[in-house]
Amino acid sequence: MTQIIDGKAVAARLRSSLAARIAQLSFKPGLAVVRVGEDPASGVYVRNKDRAASEAGFASRTIHLPESTTEAELLAQIAALNADPGVDGILVQLPLPKHIRSEAAIAAVDPAKDVDGFHPVNAGKLASGLPGLVPCTPRGVMHLLAEAKAKLSGARAVVVGRSQIVGRPMAQLLLGADCTVTIAHSRTADLPGECRRADILVAAVGRPEMIRGDWVREGAMVIDVGINRMPDGKLKGDVAYEEALPRAAAITPVPGGVGPMTIACLLENTLEAALARRA
Ligand code: GUN
Repeated sequence: MTQIIDGKAVAARLRSSLAARIAQLSFKPGLAVVRVGEDPASGVYVRNKDRAASEAGFASRTIHLPESTTEAELLAQIAALNADPGVDGILVQLPLPKHIRSEAAIAAVDPAKDVDGFHPVNAGKLASGLPGLVPCTPRGVMHLLAEAKAKLSGARAVVVGRSQIVGRPMAQLLLGADCTVTIAHSRTADLPGECRRADILVAAVGRPEMIRGDWVREGAMVIDVGINRMPDGKLKGDVAYEEALPRAAAITPVPGGVGPMTIACLLENTLEAALARRA
């Protein structure tokens, strides 16, 4: 029987264990989320983060700046949060309006408060095998692999997608767990063939059902990071789920797989940043 990995349940357990740890502290770890402009999807994400953070006992605040905010104004806001002792974690919601360079905003966040793990210092630490803040979605995937009792040491892992946010840090985490890692992408010569070699297949391409069932090795673990909104409003992953299901040993559904882990790991990063800053 294929194991369907219940990300919603794993995320709920992680959030309640964080809440229990926070209840023991003499302070509330602080999370600041900065949103610029009116991207509707960002509005939903930011509200969900704020609610989850408050429920778990964080001091959460959202700073919503107008679309007309200049890059200099955003950097000044980030500098103020860097200097604020009550703020342990800063997240600048992406995408930003086109006139603001996201790399400038990311680089402006104090690496010790960079709970997205996007700052080049944290990306460099991860690539060097040093401790630092790790991007939330790949961190969530590692929790799900642990939940599914994946044997990582020596396993062949194939990550499809090379983004800064998921693919690259995902590959680094799997390498750190002693997998033999391949990063495949849109220019990979034989993508189905690369996928068929995978004991652990992580799909993070952002194209609905691009990974077909016959690309999945019998007994592989399949982690689907894709969240693709279809014209009918439904969500689809990057993996053709029904096709892959009978072949996989374990698989994450969409929705209810990786998605719920991202916010839980944001909270985990914020608690970690808060404890490290006070150590
Ligand atoms: N927009 C979509 N996902 C993310 C994320 O993980 N972090 C940030 N900052 N913005 C996002």
